[in-house]
Amino acid sequence: MRVTALIVAAGSGSRMGGDVPKQYRSIGGRSVLGHAIDALASHPRIDVVRVVIGPHQDSVANDAIAGRDVGALITGGATRADSVRAGLVEVEDGIVLVHDAARPFCPPGVIGRLIDALEHYDGAVPVLAVADTLAKAGETIEGPIDREGVVRVQTPQAFSRQGLIDAYEAWTGDCAPTDEASVVRAAGGRVAAVEGSTSLEKLTSPADWSRAEAMLAANLVSRTGTG
Ligand code: CTP
Ligand code: MG
Repeated sequence: MRVTALIVAAGSGSRMGGDVPKQYRSIGGRSVLGHAIDALASHPRIDVVRVVIGPHQDSVANDAIAGRDVGALITGGATRADSVRAGLVEVEDGIVLVHDAARPFCPPGVIGRLIDALEHYDGAVPVLAVADTLAKAGETIEGPIDREGVVRVQTPQAFSRQGLIDAYEAWTGDCAPTDEASVVRAAGGRVAAVEGSTSLEKLTSPADWSRAEAMLAANLVSRTGTG
């Protein structure tokens, strides 16, 4: 079955700040989006990579993509969910791996686990256990939260393209969903939790950027090709 990686890069990166949205900035000599594309495109089980960008991001996006083979760029929307939906319309049927451009380092093992899990589940997502104590807090700590069975959910998230389109169509939540697993689960689907990776941490705020640079320098993240 055809496997398409759909990378959503249409955000503005407001929490990271800077002149250019984080996914188009360079880290370790390569754009964040370029790293994300390379990690997925080089995987033997991924056939096609497509990219969703913001309405006015053509120029920065093309610079960041630097001639990589991603077909025509797809225009996203105001929320991540809008961008994913816009992308799903444009990709061919088969398996789709929806991935955040803001997660530049994807280890190959995660991709294999995700695709394998689709044999038995409607979807699959990478997760990491939570090591810290969890608590509810405002100005002060209000109470501990039992972390038993609590995980952090990452991307890529794998589904059948049609199943994911149908689940998005059925979504009736009050707010835009922040990931695909929520959408498919709400539609009654069973989504497998496979082992994620610290390499897949999302670049959200400036501290994440410094940490990623340090991890790159120390060769602690999964990096593909030489660019
Ligand atoms: N994204 C998108 N379309 C949007 C919003 C987000 O394609 N309308 C993408 C981002 O480019 C990113 C991923 O979704 O790769 C995860 O989103 P996030 O980390 O929140 O990125 P931003 O929305 O760009 O950042 P912020 O929320 O700080 O503005
Ligand atoms: Mg956002």
